[in-house]
Amino acid sequence: MKVGVVGAGAVGATAAFAMVMSGSASEVVLVDANEKLAAAQAQDIAHAVPFARAVQVRNGPYSELAGAGVVVLSAGVAQRPGETRLQLLERNAAVFGAVIPAALAAAPDAILLVATNPVDVMTQVATRISGLPRSRVIGSGTVLDTARFRALLAAKLCVTPKSVHAHVVGEHGDSEVLLWSGATVAGVPVDRCADQLGHPLTAEDRAAIDEGVRRAAYRIIDGKGHTAFGIGGGLSRIVAAIAGNEQAVLTCSVLNDDVLGVPDVALSLPRVVGRSGVLSTIMPDFSAVEAAALKRSAEILKEAATSVEA
Ligand code: 2OP
Repeated sequence: MKVGVVGAGAVGATAAFAMVMSGSASEVVLVDANEKLAAAQAQDIAHAVPFARAVQVRNGPYSELAGAGVVVLSAGVAQRPGETRLQLLERNAAVFGAVIPAALAAAPDAILLVATNPVDVMTQVATRISGLPRSRVIGSGTVLDTARFRALLAAKLCVTPKSVHAHVVGEHGDSEVLLWSGATVAGVPVDRCADQLGHPLTAEDRAAIDEGVRRAAYRIIDGKGHTAFGIGGGLSRIVAAIAGNEQAVLTCSVLNDDVLGVPDVALSLPRVVGRSGVLSTIMPDFSAVEAAALKRSAEILKEAATSVEA
């Protein structure tokens, strides 16, 4: 599948690199207002192709997106140290007003895959600007937070993250919700499994894992100025699910009709993802505390989305 990437900064370029290394796309076109940057990133990534999959990589104007099955939207400004994702909203909504019509003029059948932060509100903004069905405008959402949660639980239990089934839902941001009640390894609730494996999960461990997931981006941005590898891997994973019509269950963001009484809000829940985008949504069995936290997250996002529409 041909994939366009609009925004060739660290996130867009790393997503393109991940697609080349994994072969989740067959062709990748980088588009950026800074053509010199897009050309340099495309060349640099193309030089990895002999070590990876036979993926064509190039840069070009929007017209080069013709025929793309997915367009990744990673254009816009990123967080500076200490800044929250929601503080980026107005600047990035203006960027989307320009880039989405240009991308869809060239690739009207593409699925839009939003990475720009605050990703949930930007998914809502992209759905409105594009006029596409909700199922075709997907935000990377908490796909990354879910990966962070699985990785930290795996490290504690000394098993591979691929064998940990645990999800983060709600906002990709401060109000996100780690679903401890449904976290399992081999179908065994994570607490009991941790005991069996001789690595009991204490209240302190849980708090450290929650903090490690929720505050990961702040720490990484403080240390290196941006995050890119985790989200790049996550974007490539979503592209693979679409390109391969996998019907994979991934926590990503789309505009929901209703989340626990909050109408028309984009946030992440487990979604079945395939060739035509989000095919369906799975509503987890929440504990009462998790349900209240998800409702609060939905309210925060709804308020932010309303502020940018006003
Ligand atoms: C991340 O969580 C900054 O949203 C980006 O890595």
